Amino acid sequence: MMHSCVRPFSTRSVGSRSDGVSMMDDLPEMKLTDAEYRLFTDFIRGRCGLHFDENTRYLVEKRLARRIQEADIGSFSAYLYRLRSGPNAEEEFSKIVDILTTNETYFFRERSQLAAIVEEIIPEMLSHQSTLRRPISIWSAGCSSGEEPFSVVIMGMEAGLVPGRDFRVYASDISRAVLSRARRGIYREASFREADEATRRRYFAEKDGLTRISDSVKRHVDFVHTNLMDASKVSLLGTMDVILCRNVIIYFDLETKKCVMKMFHDKLRPGGYLLLGHSESLINVTSDFELKHLSRDLVYRRPVPGEEREDPWHALARSGISQAEGKRP
Ligand SMILES: C[S@@+](CC[C@H](N)C(=O)[O-])C[C@H]1O[C@@H](n2cnc3c(N)ncnc32)[C@H](O)[C@@H]1O
Repeated sequence: MMHSCVRPFSTRSVGSRSDGVSMMDDLPEMKLTDAEYRLFTDFIRGRCGLHFDENTRYLVEKRLARRIQEADIGSFSAYLYRLRSGPNAEEEFSKIVDILTTNETYFFRERSQLAAIVEEIIPEMLSHQSTLRRPISIWSAGCSSGEEPFSVVIMGMEAGLVPGRDFRVYASDISRAVLSRARRGIYREASFREADEATRRRYFAEKDGLTRISDSVKRHVDFVHTNLMDASKVSLLGTMDVILCRNVIIYFDLETKKCVMKMFHDKLRPGGYLLLGHSESLINVTSDFELKHLSRDLVYRRPVPGEEREDPWHALARSGISQAEGKRP
C-alpha cells in the first residue's frame, strides 16, 4: 500500500488574543496571534503540504479573515474546529485550499520541457515498445486550470502524434475551483501570453469575447481531483510513464517534498521521467532519480534496475542529503 503524506494535526489549544478584542470586531483587519497562526499553518501543511511562514502571514491573515467573515463564524477557534471536525469539514477544507493556493499558469509555459516530452520522450518510449503498442501515460500533477495538460496535447498533435493512440494525459489538482475552470476550458487573455496566433486559431474558438479550447483537444485530458499527499486517491491513477509536476513543490516544506517524490518514484515505470519546474530541483530532497540530458532539457528519470547510473548529479544529491541529515556522506 502506498504511504500517505498526510500528517496528524497537533492538538495544542488555540492561544487567546492578548488584547481581548473579539475577532469579528476588527474584520477585515483580523490579526491572528502567533499561536493561532502556527496552529492554522500546521494544519494546512499537515493536510496538503503547503508551507506558509512569516513572509506570507499578512496574505494568509487577509484571506482567512475574508472567509471567516463570509461564513459568519464568530472566532478563529470556531473556524479551526469547523475545518478539523465540523460536519462539513471537507467542504470547508476545499474552500480554504481554493483561497490559499497559487494557481498561476499559462499555455506553453516553459515550452522546451513540453517539446522534450513530445519530440523526444514519447517517440523514444514508443520505439522501445514491441508489437503490443500502448499509449504513453502522462500525468500533469498540479495542473491548475488546465493550460499545462492541454499544451501537451496540442504540442503532441503538432508533432504528428495521435492522442489516445500514442499518448494519454491525466491531470489533477487539489483545488476544485481551478479544476472546474479546466473542465470548462474557457480562457482569458493572460493564458495566451506564450501562444502564437496560428496555434490559437487552430485549437481554440472565439465566441462572445470568450476563448474556448476545441473539443478535439479537450477530450484527450482526464481531470481528477487529487491531493498529492493523499495516497489512496493517488493510487486510483495507474502507473505513469511521465510525470509533470511544475511549480507545485516550491510551496511545500522539505518533509512533504520528500514524501511526494517517493510517491512519484513508486508511480513511475522504471525508465519513466519526472519533469519539475525550471526553478525546482531535487538536490537535498532525494537521490532516487537520475538526471538525464535530453537535447532540449534536463529531466529526472526513474532508473531501470540493472542499468548503470553514470550521472554525477546522483552522487552530489546523495552527499547533499547526507549532509543535510547530519550524516557522513
Ligand atoms: C502554480 S500552479 C502550477 C500549474 C502548472 N503546473 C504550471 O506550472 O503552470 C500550482 C498548482 O498546484 C496545486 N497544488 C498545490 N498543492 C497541491 C497538493 N497538495 N495536491 C495537488 N495539487 C496541489 C495548486 O492548487 C495549483 O493549482
